[in-house]
Amino acid sequence: MKKTTAIVYSSRKGSTRRYAEWLAKDCGADLFPLAEAVVDQLAEYRTVVYGGCVYNGLIDGISFIKKNRDVLRDCRLFVFTVGLTQPGDEAAFQQVLDRNFEPQELEGLRFHHFLGALDFKKMSLMQRLMMRILKKSIQQKPKEARSELENYVLKAYGGQVDFTNRAYIRPLVEEICSPPEA
Ligand SMILES: Cc1cc2nc3c(=O)[nH]c(=O)nc-3n(C[C@H](O)[C@H](O)[C@H](O)COP(=O)(O)O)c2cc1C
Repeated sequence: MKKTTAIVYSSRKGSTRRYAEWLAKDCGADLFPLAEAVVDQLAEYRTVVYGGCVYNGLIDGISFIKKNRDVLRDCRLFVFTVGLTQPGDEAAFQQVLDRNFEPQELEGLRFHHFLGALDFKKMSLMQRLMMRILKKSIQQKPKEARSELENYVLKAYGGQVDFTNRAYIRPLVEEICSPPEA
């Protein structure tokens, strides 16, 4: 008999791990950091959920799911991303999808996006540099054209913001717990 749900995640600074841990608790799922995930073991689960943080438009570790679709063909697959893209901003999320997937790779995948966190002190030198570039590009926009999150990024530059919230995972938990379509 198949096991129920496995959550695999890749997190650099901890916010994706936090969501993965909440999901694992709320769904009674087994949890695997990507580095410890073995695809043949995951194929034994009815549902596999992959969570990846987004840096510079790229979903961390997503190639693991893409290259193993054949082995996971009998699993229900979900992907959740964690970043500062505003949830509900379809156009922005479509850009993330376009950057990470060929159109045919999207088939059979269900997506959710959750808000993450930023802590300037935890960033590598390279990430601080990128943040500086991001800050400059936001500052070039007229104030009224800046999104709420862009304003937060400016405010938090040099400090920290944390938008992680356990309530965000509820729709994904409900989907995972609902019986697979016949
Ligand atoms: C250098 C840098 C680049 C980032 N690029 C993106 C991005 O392209 N899209 C996005 O939604 N969030 C972006 N973020 C925000 C991260 O996705 C966010 O901090 C997330 O919570 C990180 O997850 P982690 O804590 O699991 O590493 C970026 C953050 C940094 C520091």
